[in-house]
Amino acid sequence: MGKATEDLRHEHESILSVLEIAEDVMRSGHPAEDKFKFGNEFIYFLSVFTDRCHHGKEESLLFPTLIMKGLPDDDGPIGVLIQEHVYGIAMVRTMRSDVEEKDLIRLIQHIAEYTVFIRKHIAKENNVLYPLADKILTRDDQEEMFENFVIHEEDVVGHGIHEQLHQMIDQWLITYEIRD
Ligand SMILES: [Fe+2]
Ligand SMILES: [Fe+2]
Repeated sequence: MGKATEDLRHEHESILSVLEIAEDVMRSGHPAEDKFKFGNEFIYFLSVFTDRCHHGKEESLLFPTLIMKGLPDDDGPIGVLIQEHVYGIAMVRTMRSDVEEKDLIRLIQHIAEYTVFIRKHIAKENNVLYPLADKILTRDDQEEMFENFVIHEEDVVGHGIHEQLHQMIDQWLITYEIRD
């Protein structure tokens, strides 16, 4: 496994653990107000970490490099994955409306749909695209891409926000009494 794909796999792990927390919170007996507050913060995590940081790295660095090295774009796996990123953003927008409209039943339903959807997306990348990338990219490609990931992260997320996201996740575990 190369340095860049390893970084992306680590981010998948973070996203998957946040999805589990979301399921736990929605299933819990906490009052609706707490679930809306969580929903708001969950949406913030998804917009900043999943969409801007992680999908941003894939779309602006990993996918173009793989296309440059011969993988098909629109009609291949990359085209499908990009469409799924767009669909994910639309789902986040829907969950945001649920929170704004204080519609708990729809929020719970949409979070459940989102978790199923994004887990499948992550499985496709972990099991198909990243192994392919590990074959196609040289060690130097991976090193260079990882350096660009660090720059991307600083540009779109920034160190302070990254820390804030970690603290937010730690706080969820305490507030909603979730065992790590
Ligand atoms: Fe992706
Ligand atoms: Fe991904």
